[in-house]
Amino acid sequence: MYSVEKVKALAKIRTPESFDTLLEIFRSDENIDVRREAVSSIGRHNDSSRIYDFLREEAFSRRNPMELIYQMFRTCLYRSGDDSRFAEMRQEMLAYWQNEILYKMNDYYNYRQKREKHKPIPKITTPLLLIGDNCETLKTLPENCIQLIFTSPPYYNAREYSDYGSYAEYLAKMGDTFRECHRVLEDGRFIIVNVSPVITRRPGREFESIRYPIHYDLHRVLTESGYYFVDEILWVKPEPSVPDRVSGYRQTRKPLSYKPNCITESLMVYRKNCSFLLDRNMKEHDEYDRHDDEAIDTTNCWYIAPKYDKNHPAVFPEELCRKVLRYYSFEGDAVMDPFAGSGTFGRVARKMGRVPVLCEMNEEYANIIESESGGYYDVRGRSREKSSQQITLWEGL
Ligand SMILES: C[S@@+](CC[C@H](N)C(=O)[O-])C[C@H]1O[C@@H](n2cnc3c(N)ncnc32)[C@H](O)[C@@H]1O
Repeated sequence: MYSVEKVKALAKIRTPESFDTLLEIFRSDENIDVRREAVSSIGRHNDSSRIYDFLREEAFSRRNPMELIYQMFRTCLYRSGDDSRFAEMRQEMLAYWQNEILYKMNDYYNYRQKREKHKPIPKITTPLLLIGDNCETLKTLPENCIQLIFTSPPYYNAREYSDYGSYAEYLAKMGDTFRECHRVLEDGRFIIVNVSPVITRRPGREFESIRYPIHYDLHRVLTESGYYFVDEILWVKPEPSVPDRVSGYRQTRKPLSYKPNCITESLMVYRKNCSFLLDRNMKEHDEYDRHDDEAIDTTNCWYIAPKYDKNHPAVFPEELCRKVLRYYSFEGDAVMDPFAGSGTFGRVARKMGRVPVLCEMNEEYANIIESESGGYYDVRGRSREKSSQQITLWEGL
């Protein structure tokens, strides 16, 4: 039995005999970490032809756990610059496994090779209000200019402000918005979407109502729009604040009639796909406010009472916005809500030193937002009425 340390030590002796021993360890050891280290050590040997033969035999074998295949692919990547056999095998492995982790490794390697200069990031300097359908209004913003998106889209046809022809049409429309959001979001930054399952009113007592697990379906919409899943945070509400669904069962105790009270909503946390690690996004902010005096939410359950508002039927509690802004943005960041409603997110963002960018298509809600103290720059107004006005909306382009 070998230990990982012993295998590492063996890797430093680059003789044909140590190669043989590493092969032996790879084939006979039962510990996956030891076998993985053996693959890594084989990849660092000098004899390219032996390494190539080893990979040819093992890198397409379904006997090998994927963890070992990833290590073999790593060898292929780092050898592909100098040796075309490995470059070819790299493509063959991608085509054979069609595995998302291999694709990510490949992208990251390409990114490192290119040593691309950072794209210029336009800096939004003025709070903006984009009135109209966000699929259109967002087109007025440059790429990469937003550092955080937090939003609560319409929950299909649950409220009077939204009416879609079908659930499929709703999801397609969400896709249009999230793709546009993707364009304006800075590479590697977060989008957080607040939704929960909804039920639509049944057309008559003889018909069954349909309950839609919106967050399950939005997952696919988000990943197809170019984001990847990071976390699900549950917004937990006090039970008395939600509709009572359990009373029927409470009376009869009859199985199958059980319907629990739904006290949670999801905050779906996703990151914009990019070839670099989150470290790079963080490195750009060496100076930041630590908020040492504030307690930290250590779990993915955030206990917050819902908020009722006379102007809008589904507003964010300010506390929810505050937590999202604190954990997922820096001071000075441009932060966007593409379904802004009465603009709660923008209000909290401004208080926390961020620059809000809000989209809303309902004129009444947009008027509420515009009347906020501090004001917003109405982008539509600029193109219609104030085109001659000199105002800097963003810098750095
Ligand atoms: C759930 S509400 C958001 C409420 C908001 N979080 C708040 O605190 O007030 C969703 C909002 O999105 C708006 N909306 C729906 N579709 C839109 C679209 N395509 N473009 C812009 N706004 C849209 C609706 O008018 C509604 O006010």
